[in-house]
Amino acid sequence: MPESRCLQGIWSSPWIFIFAASGSAVGLGNIWKFPYVLGQNGGGAFLLVYCLCLLLVGLPVLMAEVALGRTVRSNPIDTVNDLSERHIVHSAWVIVPWLAGLSGFLVLAFYSVIAGWSLAYLERAISGDFMGISSSRASDMFTSLLATPAEMLLWHSVFMVLVIVTVGQSVTRGLSAVVKVLLPTLVISLGLMALYSVSVGDMPATLQFMFQWAWQDITFDVILAAVGMALFSLSVGMGAMFAYGAYINKRMSIARACSIVVGVDLLVALLAGLVIFPLVFAFQIDVEAGPSLTFVSLPIIFGNLIGGQFFASVFFLLLVVAALTSAISMLELFVAWLHEKFYIARFKAACLMGILAWFVGVAVLLSFNQWDTGVVFGLNFFELLDSITSLILLPIGAILLSVLVAWFIPHSMLQNEMITKRKSHFDLWYKVLKYISIPAMLVITFVGWIGV
Ligand code: PHE
Repeated sequence: MPESRCLQGIWSSPWIFIFAASGSAVGLGNIWKFPYVLGQNGGGAFLLVYCLCLLLVGLPVLMAEVALGRTVRSNPIDTVNDLSERHIVHSAWVIVPWLAGLSGFLVLAFYSVIAGWSLAYLERAISGDFMGISSSRASDMFTSLLATPAEMLLWHSVFMVLVIVTVGQSVTRGLSAVVKVLLPTLVISLGLMALYSVSVGDMPATLQFMFQWAWQDITFDVILAAVGMALFSLSVGMGAMFAYGAYINKRMSIARACSIVVGVDLLVALLAGLVIFPLVFAFQIDVEAGPSLTFVSLPIIFGNLIGGQFFASVFFLLLVVAALTSAISMLELFVAWLHEKFYIARFKAACLMGILAWFVGVAVLLSFNQWDTGVVFGLNFFELLDSITSLILLPIGAILLSVLVAWFIPHSMLQNEMITKRKSHFDLWYKVLKYISIPAMLVITFVGWIGV
């Protein structure tokens, strides 16, 4: 019998699911992507909209995704097929898990390249390359990494092998144990780094940038970026949480578990902001620098810290593990499906999908150097993939999934099977999903696209 069908009892404690789901949510999205998207979108206004998006879109859609995964306890594609065989939904809805799998696959392609940067920085941290580093040298260090495709290729490949080996085993085996140690250590490290950064950096400028906003700063671009970031950061709309929902204990309150995941995710992102921005302002790094922001700021912290070599090594190791616990959830959908449907061994399925994603990743890493010319709309391949996933595929995936759950799955089935027995919580979630999250995503996405 396929392995994942036997896993029903394994995630018996709600905390195990919470750790695993947080492992998927917390990753490069929080520490690398959130600070630079915040920087590019004006700070406070973005943060405000982002928090609203987490609450009114991210959380309800996350609950819907986990809940749907719990109905049939199979991989997302078979779940929808099963619902259609039982004449509950039309078979065309199978587009939702396919789209989700495609987004996860495309995200993995560039995620692995960025995780490769983290591995490269881990190696530099261990060698003590950050010691006494100035801001201009930190920036040169990153530029020279981008200019060396061979090195990026090496680390991208190492990371992809790690992903394949981990997914090839079994997604639950050991995952929550790792995350249980990883998450608290990551939060504590970021907390300490934030204290240091705040003490040496420009705190007033940071507070003003991150927490002050004006109405005119809230543009549709900012709102669209915030929705995309919220979905990406919570790993929603890509079938990852759907797959984890399949392993959830029936008695668990999805609302409670998902709220904790959202809280942890936001906490890590805010801490990352408080680590990075005081230095960005103190060293006059360009807030709108984009993907380089985190990788230029962090070495400066460690380079000027007593014991910096050790702390930098620990931190980049944590970052790589956090990236790994996110990356494995991107492949899980297709791997579980190939395994359950065609009885292909998990390892073989993971190799197949991982190698395909590796090839796409090679094009991504070349887009930072050899192919650094605009391909479409002036965007290079990395920017294109990032925009297509965060601003198009994820919102569409999340909208379709929410519509499926809110409008097509019978209310009684949802209530009985998916969500906690508390009726008031269920009603609140259902109404928010139906009347706030879906219309908000529709309006924001389509208006954002046409660039109003
Ligand atoms: N949420 C992860 C992060 O913040 C990224 C991710 C996206 C993971 C999609 C799984 C699926 O880094």
